[in-house]
Amino acid sequence: MERGAAIITGATRGIGRAIARRLGADGYTIVAVARREEELTALVDELRGDGIVVHPVVANLRDAQAAATVVDEAVARCGSVRVLVNNAAASPVVGPVASMTPEAMDLIWSVNVRAPALLAGRFAQAPGSEKVIVNIASIGGLEPEPGIGLYNVSKAALVHLTRQLAVELAPIRVNAVSPGLVRTSMSEVLVELLEDRLRRELPTGRIGEPEDVAGAVAFLVSDDARWITGSNLVVDGGTLTLGRLA
Ligand SMILES: NC(=O)c1ccc[n+]([C@@H]2O[C@H](COP(=O)([O-])OP(=O)(O)OC[C@H]3O[C@@H](n4cnc5c(N)ncnc54)[C@H](OP(=O)(O)O)[C@@H]3O)[C@@H](O)[C@H]2O)c1
Repeated sequence: MERGAAIITGATRGIGRAIARRLGADGYTIVAVARREEELTALVDELRGDGIVVHPVVANLRDAQAAATVVDEAVARCGSVRVLVNNAAASPVVGPVASMTPEAMDLIWSVNVRAPALLAGRFAQAPGSEKVIVNIASIGGLEPEPGIGLYNVSKAALVHLTRQLAVELAPIRVNAVSPGLVRTSMSEVLVELLEDRLRRELPTGRIGEPEDVAGAVAFLVSDDARWITGSNLVVDGGTLTLGRLA
């Protein structure tokens, strides 16, 4: 069944790639957004090989005009839009907030908070019905965590942006998903450091895989979640039950 166009930012790797595969398999036309054209081309070849309809859009979400480029391109290709998944994020440096440069702070803010807000605004104005937005936040936005600094603050802002938009953009449903540690290129160093311990300590006995998050997104965009908006679904294998982050 053709379900409409799903814009997914950061669709070429990790969690975004798994979301693109899952929503594509569920019948959505995928509008895949990333900066690197060659990775988008590889994704398009892979998904089309599986019978998924997919359109690539090259955009750097650091730029304020990217939101218009992305949504307008989706409408030009698909006629209307149904789903927006704000998944792409920047985590350029590690360290405490106080040691971060203004440039790193601006990058984190523009990609992790401003871009989802601008995309949501443009998406709300675009043609389409039964529209849904999912923002990929993080459990780091729910508890302080040494070493990740302003990235976590941006994720806390994204959770609150989710609630704000659920009110402002109603009847569009707007929800967040907050993953724990998931095996991707962004988390490579943390996985290396923490996987063995988390395997022993987490109630689920393992760290996350991108498909774990994609399943939660598939639920939130579906009609089964028709009475859910402004919520934040934690998908962390039980990390928060430990009473501390990893
Ligand atoms: N992995 C985890 O443990 C974890 C945990 C909690 C939350 N999250 C969140 O989950 C989401 C996905 O993370 P991930 O680990 O899957 O990341 P990832 O493997 O590093 O993939 C990031 C994706 O975003 C794209 N991207 C990055 N910067 C962009 C920009 N400025 N403009 C457009 N596209 C951009 C990348 O493609 P290009 O480089 O080609 O642009 C890539 O497709 C993020 O919001 C992250 O904060 C991840």
